[in-house]
Amino acid sequence: MDNYKIRVAFIKYFGQAEMIVFAPGRANIIGEHTDYNEGFVLPFAIDQGVWFFASVNGKDEFNIIAADTGENSTLFPHQNASLIYGWEKYFNQVLMAMAASPLKGSDIVFGGNLPIGAGISSSSAITCGFVHLLNKMNHLEMSPHKMVKIAVEAERGSGVRGGIMDQYSIFNGLKNKAVLLDCRSNSHEFVDLDLDDCHFYLINTCVKHNLINTDYNNRRAQCDEAVSLLNKYYRPIRALRDLNTDDIPKLGNLLSDTLFKRASFVIQENQRVKDAVHAIKLKNFAQLGELLYASHDGLSQLFEVSCPELDWLVDYTLDDDIFLGSRMMGGGFGGCTINLTSGELNDEKINDLSDKYYDRFGINLEIIPTSPEDGILQKKTSYSH
Ligand code: GLA
Repeated sequence: MDNYKIRVAFIKYFGQAEMIVFAPGRANIIGEHTDYNEGFVLPFAIDQGVWFFASVNGKDEFNIIAADTGENSTLFPHQNASLIYGWEKYFNQVLMAMAASPLKGSDIVFGGNLPIGAGISSSSAITCGFVHLLNKMNHLEMSPHKMVKIAVEAERGSGVRGGIMDQYSIFNGLKNKAVLLDCRSNSHEFVDLDLDDCHFYLINTCVKHNLINTDYNNRRAQCDEAVSLLNKYYRPIRALRDLNTDDIPKLGNLLSDTLFKRASFVIQENQRVKDAVHAIKLKNFAQLGELLYASHDGLSQLFEVSCPELDWLVDYTLDDDIFLGSRMMGGGFGGCTINLTSGELNDEKINDLSDKYYDRFGINLEIIPTSPEDGILQKKTSYSH
C-alpha cells in the first residue's frame, strides 16, 4: 500500500495529519545470528517500509488504525500487554517502554509495502517508526541510541529476544552504504556499496515466520549455554564474539554436538562479515557471493534455522551463473533469501524461477530488487505538515 492511500485513509478517519513518519525495513548482506552474540552484522535500510500518519488528539489514548485491513485499536499508556495480540502488541510495547515520558494521545493510521513475516523486519519498522513518531510529536529530543534502545526493549517485550541489528539499521541506514555494526560497542562504520553492474534481490519464499513461535529464542539460549561452558572449561569469554576460527578445533571436546555446531557457525559468521567488508572494498563480488553461500550452508547445516523453501531457492541459484551468491536472511524458518547477481534478472529468469518454485511448493514467490536507502534519521521526508 502506498503513502497516498494511507494519507487518504487518515483523512477519512481523522482529518488532516500533523505528522508523517516513514520507517524502512532492512536487508542484511551477511552476519546472521551474530548480533546477540556481540558480533558483527552488515545490514542496510531498504526502500520498502511502513508509513505513519498522525495527529495529537487532546486525549489520553492512542487510536491506531491499520490502513490495509481497517483493523483498529485503542491503547493507553501504561497498559498491560498480556491481552494484546498482533500488530497492537508492538505499539503497546513501545508505549510501555516509554512509560517514563509524558506522551500526548494521538490518532494514527499506518500501513506500507513491507511484507509481514518475510525476515525484513516489519515488526521493527513498526516499533522504530512509532518510537520516532512519539519522540517528534512530544519534543522529547531522544538521542538515536536511546531510540534504538527503546525499540529493542519494546520488541523483546513482545516475546523475541532479538539483537539490535534491525532497529539500529532502520534508524541509521544511509543511501548506497551498508552499515557495519559492531554489536558489542553498538557503534558502526559505513561501507560504500558501489556494486558496478551487480544487484541485490530479495526473494521471498512467502513462507511466513513469526519468530515468537519459532526456535529463535532457543538458538539464543544455546549460544548463551555454549558461552557459559566455554567460560568455565576453555577460557574467560563474555560472548562467542571473543573466539575466532582458530579456536574451533579445540571446542569439539568441550561442547555437545549441537552446541559445537551453533558456536562454530557464529564464530565463522563473524569472520565472514569481516571478509565480506574486505571483498566489497576490493570490489571482489565473486568472493562476496561465495561468502553468502558459505553463510547459508552454516545457517542451514550448523545453526539449523533454514527451511526446505529457503534451501531450494539457494540451490536453484547454484546452477545459474548470473547468481554470485545467495543465502537465507534474517531470523530464518521462512522469509527471504538475499541474492547477489552480476546483472539484472530478466523476465525469462524471473518466470522460470517462479514457475519452478510454484511447481515444487505450490506457492507464488515474490522477487524484490533492493539497495541501501536512508534510515529513519536521514529520511528528509520523514515528517512534514
Ligand atoms: C532477527 C532479529 C535480529 C537478528 C536476526 C538474525 O531479525 O530481530 O536481531 O538476530 O534475526 O540475524
